[in-house]
Parts: sequence; C-alpha cells; structure tokens
Amino acid sequence: MKAEDLVRAAKCARDHARAAHSGFKVGAAVETRKGKLYSGCNVENSTYGLTVCAERVAIWKALSEGESDFRRLVVVADTEDLTPPCGACRQIIWEYCGDIEVILANLKAARARYRMRELLPFPFDSRFLGKE
Ligand code: THU
Repeated sequence: MKAEDLVRAAKCARDHARAAHSGFKVGAAVETRKGKLYSGCNVENSTYGLTVCAERVAIWKALSEGESDFRRLVVVADTEDLTPPCGACRQIIWEYCGDIEVILANLKAARARYRMRELLPFPFDSRFLGKE
C-alpha cells in the first residue's frame, strides 16, 4: 500500500470527526504488516476530558478486530505545521505498535515521517514491570 492511500483513508476518517468543542478535526489510519487498514477520527465529549484522539480510535478499532502487528500510522490535520500525536497517544502507539513509522500530513501536500523512537525516545513500558 502507498503512503498516500493511508493519508487518503485518514482524511476520510477526519471528515467524521466529532470535534464540536475544539473545532479541531483529526484523522488517523494505522496499517497492519499484512496491509490491512483501520482509520479513526477524534471523538470529543462535553466533559472535555473524555475526548479520545483519532490515533487511539484507529488503534482501538484495530486491536478490537484482533490485530497486533503494525507497520505505519498516519495523522492528518488541517494545520500548516504538521500535527504530531499528543503525549498520551505516543504512549499508546508505543505500547501497541512499537517502533513503527509515523507519517504526519495536512490537507495539502506537506508530509513528514518519524519513527516512534524519535517521538518517544525514553519510553516507560512493560520492560519496567518485569514482564518481558
Ligand atoms: N487530537 C487528536 O485527535 N490527535 C492529535 O494528534 C492531537 C489532538 C484531538 C483531540 C481533540 O479532540 C482535538 O484534537 C483538540 O485537541
């Protein structure tokens, strides 16, 4: 799958964003190593704190369908400076996707690529719990 296919899916998901409170619509798409794609949008709540980011919605959808092996994740927002995943999402992406490629995109042609290691260089994870 081409990176632009993922960007397109994330843009489509962004159209469904429930962002009545912030007005800030975000779309995400995560690709499995077998080439399946799961997308998500941010879903806000009047309590604000119950808001879930697009990245987590995409990952929850994939995990709940039994997926566990991921290759890439795309985040799309309508900003000139590309929007990166928030701190909470970085923790979740690291936990379930590991050191995957993260592609940031806007509605125009701007794109940037990172590894999760760059976005979360000194992560807390299950290694510290003595589980691995
Ligand atoms: N948001 C995301 O969905 N993903 C990000 O990477 C950054 C922030 C959402 C959460 C909230 O609905 C809105 O953007 C403003 O923070």
